[in-house]
Amino acid sequence: MTWTKEQRYLPYDHWDALKLLTLQAQADRSSFQLQYHIRPQSGLLNDPNGFSYFAGQYHLFYQAFPFGPVHGLKSWMHVVSKDLVHWQNLGLAIKPGDPIDSHGAYSGSAQEIDGKLFLMYTGNVRDQNWQRIPYQNGAWMDKTGEITKVSQPLFRNPSHISEHFRDPQLLKQNGKYYALLGAQEAQSQTGEIMVYQSTDLVNWEEIGPLNLGPLGYMIECPNLVYVDDRPVLIFCPQGLNKEQASYDNIYPNMYLVLDEVDLAHATVKGAGALQQLDFGFDIYASQAFNRGEDCYLISWAGLPEIAYPTDQENWSGCLSQVKELHLKNGRLVQQPVAAMCKLRQAETKLANEQILQTATDNQYELLLTIPANQTGTLELAKDNSGSLKVKFDTINGLVKLERTQGEFAKEYGLTRSVKTQAKQELKLDIFIDHSLAEIFVNDGEAVLTSRFFNHGTAIAMTSPCKYTASYWPIVK
Ligand code: FRU
Repeated sequence: MTWTKEQRYLPYDHWDALKLLTLQAQADRSSFQLQYHIRPQSGLLNDPNGFSYFAGQYHLFYQAFPFGPVHGLKSWMHVVSKDLVHWQNLGLAIKPGDPIDSHGAYSGSAQEIDGKLFLMYTGNVRDQNWQRIPYQNGAWMDKTGEITKVSQPLFRNPSHISEHFRDPQLLKQNGKYYALLGAQEAQSQTGEIMVYQSTDLVNWEEIGPLNLGPLGYMIECPNLVYVDDRPVLIFCPQGLNKEQASYDNIYPNMYLVLDEVDLAHATVKGAGALQQLDFGFDIYASQAFNRGEDCYLISWAGLPEIAYPTDQENWSGCLSQVKELHLKNGRLVQQPVAAMCKLRQAETKLANEQILQTATDNQYELLLTIPANQTGTLELAKDNSGSLKVKFDTINGLVKLERTQGEFAKEYGLTRSVKTQAKQELKLDIFIDHSLAEIFVNDGEAVLTSRFFNHGTAIAMTSPCKYTASYWPIVK
């Protein structure tokens, strides 16, 4: 089906309940459907939003267009969890369609303020000439989950910032509120992270762009978090020059480890090298937040402007698992949260077998330890039509992921790889959930996250190889 602009932006009340139920049933039936990750009930899911801890549980919202696999009129859907693994679906939270968010409740964040959760988001508004006005909006959620929008926008783009001004991250520091926003400088059309401040959440004052230098033509989804006491900026610079940092996906999700951030003066000091957050095919729009000293990250396992095979089934997108962040040698380390272990079923121990499993249900964790002198290819979701291949070389230090099935995103290449230490033992902790693979390399020193669309269920090494492994089916 081709979607017209009118269909994409139809008010939610114009869609009938039966249509929604039919779409939900279709998404439920999909053989590619995720079983232990956050996925759309129907239609499209993209960015995680409002990741926070409030009133005794974790809250997470996500960008959704529930009526089809396209980027239409976006809303915020709400899920909650006690352990960051078992999520309960609470449904629609911010419904678009008011004058301040007529064309979508776009991405944003959440902070607990005076016993309520303040949601700050971008109201995407288009005028009669389809000119975009990016309002930055607020909404209050009380402890019962009732959400009330602030009826007036908090602020909009200043004249030196183009219509690309969105995804506010609200922070509280030294008694002040700050918002970091993804932005495009109007004249040079370069990407910036803008800083705003407020003392009352009503009056907002522009401080200026962070002193990061030019980063592509637009920055989306900026996040500032503190990881093991160091400030870390996570963001998506669209159109980033590949000489500044290498990446293969249409748009990268990057990070900078900093020595210092002074939001009051929009300055950072001691920025390290620009680094890729994930080495797989499908991570974008990640959102991280601090709960005390702990820092958690979740991402959209998908990318803008890429058509996925499940579009044919009228649904698209999912979120990664939540990961805990730490720093090691100036790089982020990402690890599954503790409760992920609770999903493990009976363990099978393996050593050196060429066929690891003849038939899985594609819902499992496989933890492999490979000695320092091995090369090999591990095939996941293997059947006669293909597999997702993980090639490893512990002699030279390389892990390479090969995705050949499914006619999608091929123009961005069929392989992704990450370097590891040569002549070192390699640990791969692999989570498979039907159409999502998350591969943690060496206890999270690198992660490769990828969608794949293949119905095979076996796990095998293409040639004999030395290793030890544990395999656990996963049930939620
Ligand atoms: C990133 C993004 C954000 C925007 C949202 C709209 O994927 O483009 O910049 O707020 O998606 O859904």
